[in-house]
Amino acid sequence: MREELAGKVAIVTGGASGIGRASVELFAREGASVVIADVDDERGPQLAEALGERVRYRRTDVSSEADVQGVVDFAVETFGGLHIMFNNAAVSNRLFPSFLDDDLTDFRKVMDVNLLGVMLGTQRAARHMAKHGGGSIINTASIGGSVAGFGVVTYRASKAAVLHFSKCAAIDLAQHNVRVNIINPGHIRTTMSSWSAGGMSEAGFNQLQRDLDEINFADQPIKREGRAEDVAEAALYLGSDRSQQVTGIVIPVDGGVSVGDSVNHVQQILDAQTRAMQM
Ligand SMILES: NC(=O)c1ccc[n+]([C@@H]2O[C@H](COP(=O)([O-])OP(=O)(O)OC[C@H]3O[C@@H](n4cnc5c(N)ncnc54)[C@H](O)[C@@H]3O)[C@@H](O)[C@H]2O)c1
Repeated sequence: MREELAGKVAIVTGGASGIGRASVELFAREGASVVIADVDDERGPQLAEALGERVRYRRTDVSSEADVQGVVDFAVETFGGLHIMFNNAAVSNRLFPSFLDDDLTDFRKVMDVNLLGVMLGTQRAARHMAKHGGGSIINTASIGGSVAGFGVVTYRASKAAVLHFSKCAAIDLAQHNVRVNIINPGHIRTTMSSWSAGGMSEAGFNQLQRDLDEINFADQPIKREGRAEDVAEAALYLGSDRSQQVTGIVIPVDGGVSVGDSVNHVQQILDAQTRAMQM
C-alpha cells in the first residue's frame, strides 16, 4: 500500500457512482478520510458503510450553497480539516433530440449542477484551505468541454465553462497555496453515459450503446476502454503532494482522443439513433 494520502481529508462530489466512486475507493485505500457528497441516498451510504470508519456519506446537492457549505463544515468537524476537494458531480442533458428540437428546459439544471456546483465547491473549500495552509482542488470537466462535437450542447457548454473557470481560479487562489487543476475524462461507461442516451427501449438502448462504443473508440489511439479507475489515478496525483508545483493544468484521461483532430461522427450517430429507435 502506498498511502499517498495518509493524514489528508477529501470531499468527493458525485462520489456515489462512476468516476467519483472509483476516486472515493482509491483515496480511502491511499489513507485519506473521505466524505462522499452526493444526492444518491442509496448508493452513497452503502459505499460509505462498505469502506469503513474513514469514509462518510453526506447528502449534498452541489447546486445548493447551503449544502456545499454544509459538507465543507461536516468534513472539518468530522475529520479535523479539508485538504482535497474533488468537484466531480455533474449531470448531462440527453444525446437526443438534436439542438434544433431541444426546448432547453434542462439548461438551468445542467448549468446549476455542472458550473455553479463546481464554483461553489471551489470557493467554499478554498475559504477553509486558505486559512489552513492551502490545499488541492480538482474539477472534473470533459473532453466535450475542450473539443467541439456533436450533441449534448448544453453539457458541452457547461464543461467549457468549468475549464475556463478552473484556470482562472488557479491564478486567483495560488496566493493562498490553493491549487486548482482539471481532469478531462474521455468516454467512460458509467451511469451518466447511459442516462444521457435515454428515452428508448432497452433493446434500442443496448444496440445504441454498442454502436456508440464503436464510434467513440474508432479514433481513440489507445485501443482499450477507459475506466473510472483510470480517472481516479489522475485525481490521486493531483490530490497528493506529488503535484505540489502543479496548478491550472488539464489532464485528459481519454486514451489520446484529444491529441489529434476531433472527428465529428454525425452521420454514424444519426444512423445509430435511427436503428435504435426502430427496435
Ligand atoms: N462517463 C463519461 O464518459 C464522462 C466523460 C467526460 C466527463 N465525465 C464527467 O465525469 C464526472 C463523473 O461522471 P460519471 O460518468 O462518473 O457519472 P455518474 O452518473 O456515474 O456519477 C455522477 C454522480 O453525480 C451525482 N450527482 C448528480 N447530481 C448531483 C448533485 N446535484 N449534487 C451532488 N451529486 C450529484 C449522481 O448521483 C452520481 O452519483 C462528471 O463531471 C462527468 O461530466 C464523464
